[in-house]
Amino acid sequence: MAKFHVIIPAAGSGSRMHSQIPKQYLPLLSRPLITWCLDVFYANPKIDHVHLALHPQDEVWTKQLSNNPKLNVLRTGGDTRAQTVLNTLEKIDADEHDWVLVHDAARPGLTDELLSKLLDALQDDAVGGVLAIPLADTLKRADASQRVERTESREDLWQAQTPQMFTYGLLKRALLAAHNANHQPTDEAQAIEFLGLSPKLVTGELRNLKITYPQDLLLAEAILAVDMNKHSEHQ
Ligand code: CTP
Ligand code: MG
Repeated sequence: MAKFHVIIPAAGSGSRMHSQIPKQYLPLLSRPLITWCLDVFYANPKIDHVHLALHPQDEVWTKQLSNNPKLNVLRTGGDTRAQTVLNTLEKIDADEHDWVLVHDAARPGLTDELLSKLLDALQDDAVGGVLAIPLADTLKRADASQRVERTESREDLWQAQTPQMFTYGLLKRALLAAHNANHQPTDEAQAIEFLGLSPKLVTGELRNLKITYPQDLLLAEAILAVDMNKHSEHQ
């Protein structure tokens, strides 16, 4: 039986967030941002292992932040996200046909519903795929003075989210090939695309946003606060 591994790249510095500590550790409704997605993976019985990829010099993470029998903390952070994921794949004990779900530490809005939807949609797929949302806004291409050069069609354009789910063997082969060709894929799917394969797009939700800028934290807090209120109403 294929196992399900999660890799959480958490070795970035969060430069666009301009905070003193990396953004994955900032408080979000009074607990560290990263613990929100960790809890979703711990709670899903299909997930066997959660590999957390930290920066080698990370001084913020401690066991107290989160602990669980599924958790495997590694200091496999590299210079790029792709390098962090590749370093982690090389360290973990997994079978070629096991599934690997890569999820940004900075996406606290993942729900069990979205995770289950991705697992159901892809576990029999020959390639794998990603959560993604169709573009909603009109797209403008800017010129050098930040004026509109033209409007781009948004037809068939999707924004990729995470988790991104591929088999261990395929993902490792793809990231190694990209590395050797000096390509810098910004997500796992792009590395798979370099091999000539087409990852599946599974419709995600806006709530699974990536925290990039300070204002994103407020939005995530609002979304998670609504969840908590709903939860307490049901108790
Ligand atoms: N990441 C990583 N290793 C890197 C760069 C990024 O593990 N060398 C991780 C981040 O910790 C984050 C995810 O990849 O969980 C998505 O990256 P991003 O949102 O770009 O985070 P940062 O690189 O930390 O932020 P910034 O680009 O603003 O510096
Ligand atoms: Mg980055």
